[in-house]
Amino acid sequence: MTHWVFGYGSLIWKADFPFRERAPGTIRGWARRFWQGSHDHRGTPSAPGRVVTLVEAEGAVCRGMAYRIEAAVFDHLDHREKNGYRRVTLPIELTGAATVTGTVYLATPDNPAFLGPAPAPEIAAHILGSEGPSGRNVDYFLELVAALEQLGVDDPHLDGIHSELRRLGVEGTA
Ligand code: SIN
Repeated sequence: MTHWVFGYGSLIWKADFPFRERAPGTIRGWARRFWQGSHDHRGTPSAPGRVVTLVEAEGAVCRGMAYRIEAAVFDHLDHREKNGYRRVTLPIELTGAATVTGTVYLATPDNPAFLGPAPAPEIAAHILGSEGPSGRNVDYFLELVAALEQLGVDDPHLDGIHSELRRLGVEGTA
């Protein structure tokens, strides 16, 4: 028995797990936001970084990558996404194919690592100044931008932060 899991952040570009197949996909009613704190990957408990979560937003469309995985892979994913994310079940529209029911890792506002909204210049400066065991926060950002570009996705929230990062001297991709 296999399951679909939808990635909208690092799960798009860092598939460090086995999968049977993958396909670009879309979920509706959720918007990607750099509103979650990262204590364990792109920051530390005393200086958390900023990574993405999804927030409910009527009419929003979030595009990412869906993977069909064996159930055993959830052990790895649960550990990787342990800092505030929980599994929710949502419909995932696979591009050019069926809509499937699958798992999305969401960090809701009630989790202790949630940071919430901030102006783009503040988010950009925060990202630029953060680093954790998985590397520089700005590399997480740039990898995500590059992966979304490859998928042909324009994300205005990321565009705003990217402009601010460029203003701060960040160039190119990770
Ligand atoms: C995801 O990619 O779907 C979850 C957030 C992350 O790990 O960056």
